Amino acid sequence: MDFKGKNIIVTGATRGIGLTIAEAFAKQGANVAICGTREDAVNKAAENLAAFGGKVLGRAVNISRAQECDAFVADVVKEFGSLDVLVNNAGITKDNLAVRMTEEDWRAVIDVNLTGTFFMSKAALKVMFKKRAGNVVNISSVVGEMGNAGQANYVASKAGIIGLTKTLAKEFGSRNIRVNAVAPGFVRTAMTDALPQDVKEKALENVPLKRFAETQDIAKAVLFLASEDASYITGHILSVNGGLYI
Ligand SMILES: NC(=O)c1ccc[n+]([C@@H]2O[C@H](COP(=O)([O-])OP(=O)(O)OC[C@H]3O[C@@H](n4cnc5c(N)ncnc54)[C@H](O)[C@@H]3O)[C@@H](O)[C@H]2O)c1
Repeated sequence: MDFKGKNIIVTGATRGIGLTIAEAFAKQGANVAICGTREDAVNKAAENLAAFGGKVLGRAVNISRAQECDAFVADVVKEFGSLDVLVNNAGITKDNLAVRMTEEDWRAVIDVNLTGTFFMSKAALKVMFKKRAGNVVNISSVVGEMGNAGQANYVASKAGIIGLTKTLAKEFGSRNIRVNAVAPGFVRTAMTDALPQDVKEKALENVPLKRFAETQDIAKAVLFLASEDASYITGHILSVNGGLYI
C-alpha cells in the first residue's frame, strides 16, 4: 500500500486505535493531520508522528462543534495542499442501563460519535467533491451491529455511523469518493489491559479467535479500505471482531 505524499486526517489520534492508525499512515509516507480533545496530548502525538518524515499537523478540536471541524479541515488543506483520506475514529463512551442513562450522557455520546463524524465528513467531503476523489473510513463497533446492554447511547451512535456510511457512499460514489466503515470487536488497549483476568476470559468466551484485537489489526483494515486495493469497495462495513459477531 502506497500512501506516499497522500494527505490524511485521523480524528481522536492522541492514543489508542487512532494513534496506531495515524502511525500506520505516517510509516507509509503520508502527511498526517490529527486531532484530539487535549492540546498537550495532541502535540505529543504529533511530535512522535513527525519522526516518520512526512508533514504532521495536530490540533485540539472538539468534533461535536461544526465550526471547529470546518476550521480544522481548512487548516489541513492550507498546510498540506489537499485532502485524500478522512478517518473518523474519535469516540467516547458513557455507559449505563437505559433507564438510568441521563439525557446529558445520551446527548454527549451521540454528539461526539455520530454528529462529530457527520460534521467532519461534511467538511472533508466538500473538499473531496471538488477534486472528484477521496476516501472516508469511519470507525463503528461490533456493538453497533449486535447491540449491547448498558450502552444504548454508544450502540445507537455506532449503528448510526453504519447508516451514515452507507448513505454517504451512495451520495458521493459518482464523484469517485468511497465511504466505508470498520467495526472493531474487543481491542486490547490500556482499558482492556486493566480488566481482571476472569473478566477478560469471560469476554473471550464468545470470540472464536480467542484473543482481543491489537490496535494494529484495526489499522490494517483501515489502510486497506483507504487504499487502491479496495478500489471497488464502498458502503461496506468491515467487521474486525475475531468472529465475535458473524
Ligand atoms: N477500544 C475498543 O475496544 C473499541 C472497540 C470498538 C470500537 N472502538 C472505537 O474505536 C475508536 C477509538 O477507540 P479507543 O479505544 O482507541 O479510544 P480512546 O479513548 O483511547 O481515544 C479516543 C480519542 O478520541 C479523542 N476524542 C474524544 N472526544 C473527542 C472530541 N469530542 N473531539 C475530538 N476528539 C475526541 C480523544 O482525545 C482520543 O484521542 C472509538 O470510536 C471507539 O468507539 C473501540
